[in-house]
Amino acid sequence: MRLQEIKLVNFRKHLDLTFAPGEGINLIYGQNGSGKTNILEAVHYCSLSRGLNRSLDKECLNFSADYFLLKSRFLDDRDIELSVKVSYSGKTDKKIVVNGEELNKFSQLIGRVPCITFSPAELVVVTGSPQERRRFVDNALSQTDKRYLEDLLQYRRVVQQRNSLLSMMHDEGLDRDSLAVWSEKLSLLAASIMTARTEFLFILLEYFRPLYENFGLDEIPGFSYRSTIGKFGPDVSGEEIIETMMHRFRDIETQELVRKQTLIGPHRDDIMFQLNNVEVKKYASQGQLRTFFIALKLALHKYVLEVTGERPLFLLDDLFSELDRKRAESVIQQLESSGQSIITSTERLQMETLHATSINDMITT
Ligand SMILES: Nc1ncnc2c1ncn2[C@@H]1O[C@H](COP(=O)(O)OP(=O)(O)OP(=O)(O)O)[C@@H](O)[C@H]1O
Ligand SMILES: [Mg+2]
Repeated sequence: MRLQEIKLVNFRKHLDLTFAPGEGINLIYGQNGSGKTNILEAVHYCSLSRGLNRSLDKECLNFSADYFLLKSRFLDDRDIELSVKVSYSGKTDKKIVVNGEELNKFSQLIGRVPCITFSPAELVVVTGSPQERRRFVDNALSQTDKRYLEDLLQYRRVVQQRNSLLSMMHDEGLDRDSLAVWSEKLSLLAASIMTARTEFLFILLEYFRPLYENFGLDEIPGFSYRSTIGKFGPDVSGEEIIETMMHRFRDIETQELVRKQTLIGPHRDDIMFQLNNVEVKKYASQGQLRTFFIALKLALHKYVLEVTGERPLFLLDDLFSELDRKRAESVIQQLESSGQSIITSTERLQMETLHATSINDMITT
């Protein structure tokens, strides 16, 4: 997938800016606060229907404007054009139009323009709470597996409904039969989500290992899925997960009623990232963390390419501030064979394979 052109109107700092990157590796350089990340955020909107780091639509609206508009044109690896238009005014909901047709649900955009990001703020995937790691896996799988996204959305609804039921039963008394119906619905979806997640992690690790080795570090990396349901490996079947979960639900019935919450399931699970069998989050140095994370994103890029047959766009914010020169060069080398990427930096780096554009040279008013 290649971005041919994107136009930003009243988006964040930019009142009117057009960016037309080339194929291969593009570098946007400019001083702090000049609006480089804003451009990546605009591309992210056209790919995943939302901004970076969970920013809100209204935060992206220029301070002095009452609407923003993003117009982008992409070309996929078979040279088929795709246009994405995102518009938002403070008063109405955001609107997304793909090839001239308005989407009813934003989830319909996911996967059309596969995109991988790398930004300093995202390091929380490794260092932060389990929710960050679940989000990493969910976002990745949602781009490559429509069924996963549907199951996940459905699962979230069922958790909410089950929680409401628990809350009602907390006040009005236990109704085991009704609870069992919702527990079963939940277990079915949970099994499908958990199986997809563990399979994904298994394949991702295969791509990850050689990439991590490329950086000259010799620790042995590992990923494992840590479930709230119990010990759970890649060889466990969906039926076994359902059975274990139903069993556990019966065990924790009183706790769930007191807390009025569904206490086990994929919405509470975690992923362990390890180096030499110890948790990266707890023991790795800053450099190891960053290297681990960039290798994770490079592995993800490979995964999406293998599964979809489409090379995802790679958006890398502030890459060089995160890595030393040697590692940055190693990343650039990897990117050379990864399709189109857009990197931001405060410095104009002199590298043969980089196509550099100053943010000041973009058409802006
Ligand atoms: N909604 C908005 N309206 C107007 N300006 C905004 C809005 N949101 C952010 N900005 C401005 O955009 C600028 C930040 O842009 P951005 O984060 O893209 O800069 P950058 O070039 O990536 O900087 P750095 O090199 O420090 O990362 C800030 O000056 C901020 O005040
Ligand atoms: Mg920035």
